Amino acid sequence: MPAPSVTVRPLSPVIGAEIIGVDLSKPMSNEVFDAVHRAFLKHHVIFFRDQILTPDDQIALGRRFGSLNIHPYVRGMSSHPEILEIIKEPSDRINFGGGWHSDMSFLETPVLGSMLYAVEVPDVGGDTLFANQHAAYDSLSDGLKSALGGLKAIHSAAEEYGLKGPSAQKRASMESEVVGDDVPEYEHPVVRTHPETGRKGLYVNPAFTLRFAGWSRAESRPLLNHLFEVSKREAFTCRFRWSPGALAFWDNRCVWHYALNDYHGERRHMRRVTINGDRPH
Ligand code: SIN
Repeated sequence: MPAPSVTVRPLSPVIGAEIIGVDLSKPMSNEVFDAVHRAFLKHHVIFFRDQILTPDDQIALGRRFGSLNIHPYVRGMSSHPEILEIIKEPSDRINFGGGWHSDMSFLETPVLGSMLYAVEVPDVGGDTLFANQHAAYDSLSDGLKSALGGLKAIHSAAEEYGLKGPSAQKRASMESEVVGDDVPEYEHPVVRTHPETGRKGLYVNPAFTLRFAGWSRAESRPLLNHLFEVSKREAFTCRFRWSPGALAFWDNRCVWHYALNDYHGERRHMRRVTINGDRPH
């Protein structure tokens, strides 16, 4: 049951809900926190509108859910290194996060969730898509589920943050590091069990998953491509249209997301805090 003052309005049957009645700039009572946390676990990405958040407010909000991550390759705000300013200027061509991914699965201990706050958005365009990876897993045949059960996959930032990678491209107002071939690789299970709900979900993504452990890239590609197709099926997605002051909080343990890049010549300015997670199992 939500707290009496909190309304949860689902955006689609499988993923996404808007939360009404919470002022995120104020410390949450335990009752409101529990209602928000339950909605997060049930809907996988939750949205709030018309919030007025300073960087300190956003950091305090993120810390309510766990310790905050400092991105290894993208420079945070100089005053608040835990905050990534995701900015596409009118002169930029390539946006940040413009492909399906789960944030930072390239870490040994990937992140739990991300809270993205809209400072400035185009009138139209720049929406973000989200896809439920539990639903993707549930849709697989029993045969494929059991074959994937024993598999691990190798994740790394090598392509996304390598010389030609989209995340490493020069942008007018963002600074990211270009990584070399020596960037670390980590192995994660292909089927991840959510540490809080116990639900299984696919845990591979096109940005950071290079191959299956013990398989060559060529051997891995056909099966990875099949999983990627399933993972982004329209029926497993929702789409969020931003407005200034909106905040999205998604669960990277079971959600992919995709920032659309359909607003060239306009400015989009977001602030993200990213909450540390645990080792996938
Ligand atoms: C991201 O991948 O964190 C960016 C998402 C967005 O800007 O919509």
